[in-house]
Amino acid sequence: MNKQDWKNFKNNSIRHVWNYAHASWVWPLFPNKFMAFLEKFKNGKKFFNSLQKIRFLITQKPIIPDIEYVVTTRCTMNCKHCNTFVPYFSDDSHVKSVTFETFKQDIDTLLKSIDYIYSFGFVGGETLLNKDLAKMIEYALSKRKIHHVFIATNCTILPNEELLKVMKHKKFAAHISDYRDVKKIKGGITVKYEEMKKLLLDNGIKISNHQENLNRSNWMTMPELYKDRQDVEKIIENFNRCFGQYCTMLSDGKILQCTISVYMERNLELTQAIKDEIVDIRAAKNSKELTDKIIKFYCRPYSEFCHYCHFENIQTGLPCGEQISAEEAALYIQNNKNL
Ligand SMILES: C[S@@+](CC[C@H](N)C(=O)[O-])C[C@H]1O[C@@H](n2cnc3c(N)ncnc32)[C@H](O)[C@@H]1O
Ligand code: SF4
Ligand code: SF4
Repeated sequence: MNKQDWKNFKNNSIRHVWNYAHASWVWPLFPNKFMAFLEKFKNGKKFFNSLQKIRFLITQKPIIPDIEYVVTTRCTMNCKHCNTFVPYFSDDSHVKSVTFETFKQDIDTLLKSIDYIYSFGFVGGETLLNKDLAKMIEYALSKRKIHHVFIATNCTILPNEELLKVMKHKKFAAHISDYRDVKKIKGGITVKYEEMKKLLLDNGIKISNHQENLNRSNWMTMPELYKDRQDVEKIIENFNRCFGQYCTMLSDGKILQCTISVYMERNLELTQAIKDEIVDIRAAKNSKELTDKIIKFYCRPYSEFCHYCHFENIQTGLPCGEQISAEEAALYIQNNKNL
C-alpha cells in the first residue's frame, strides 16, 4: 500500500467507524459506551482511531464501519426520489428475494476475510417482503464480528411474531421511515407507521425515526445519472459530502459504494474502472484474496460510480416518499436523466 492508499484506507475504514457511529441517526440507536467515555478527553477520538489502526496492523484484516445487505429491490411503494431508484428497475434487473442459504454463505465468506463490522443493515426495497428475514437477522445477531444490526422499513408490512422475537435483542434496532403523509400507494397498500412504532416500542425494540422529528420533509432529489468523467476535484468534493459515504452495500454478492450504485450496477452500462472497483465476494478464490480486495476497495479516494452522479439540480427539504406512477417511471427509464 502506498502513502496515498494508506491515507484513503484510514479515512474510509479505520477512522470511519467513529464518524459513522456518531452520525445523527446512528448514535441514538447504538450509543457506544467506550466512545462516550473517550469523548470526555481531548484526544479521545484520536486514541480510538489509534486503537483501530493497531487492530488492523495486527490482524491485517479490514474493519467494515457499515454495510447494508440488499434482501430484495422489490417494494410495496414506488417513491419517486427513492435513493435506491427502486421504481426504475426492470423485471430483469431487480435483485430477487435472497434466501437464507445464500445469505448465510455470503456472511460466512465475508466474516472470514474481515476484522469486524460495526453496523450491519438489512435494506431493500422493502425488507419485510423477504420471507427469510427473521432467520437472517437471527444469524447476523449471532455473529461476534457483527457489532450492531438494523433493518430499514417503510412500515407497510407489520412484523409477525417470529420476526418480533428475533428483533428483541440488545444488538438490534429498526429504522422506521415515516411515510404517514403518503396517500395513494399502488394496490391500495397503506402506511402503518404509528402501529409499527407502538409495536416495536411495546416489545422493547429500539427504533430510529428521525423523519418524524424532521416533520417528514428531509428528502432530497437524486442526482441525474449519466456517464461523464467530470472533473475529479469536483467529484471528490461531491463524494466528501455525499450520503453515499455512509451506506456501503452488499447486493447480490457484490460490495458497492452506495444505494445508487446498486441501481447503476444492474441498469447502466459500466465502465471498466467501475467493474474493477466492484468486489464480488462470491467470486473470491479464498479469504486472503477477498481480504486484499476489500482493503483495495477502501483505498480509493472516491468511487468510480461517482462519475455518473450529477448533483447540479438537487433539491432538498422535500416531503418523504412522494409516489410515482408506473407510466411516469417508464418515461424516466426511457430518458434516464430527469429524476
Ligand atoms: C432506500 S430505503 C430502504 C428501506 C425501506 N424501503 C424504506 O423506505 O424505509 C432506506 C432509507 O433511505 C431513505 N431515503 C430514500 N430515498 C431518500 C431520499 N431521496 N432522500 C432522503 N432519504 C431517502 C428512506 O426514507 C429510508 O429511511
Ligand atoms: S424509499 Fe420508497 S421505493 Fe425506495 S425502497 Fe423505500 S419505500 Fe421502497
Ligand atoms: S456514486 Fe458517489 S456521488 Fe453518487 S451517490 Fe454514490 S457516493 Fe454519492
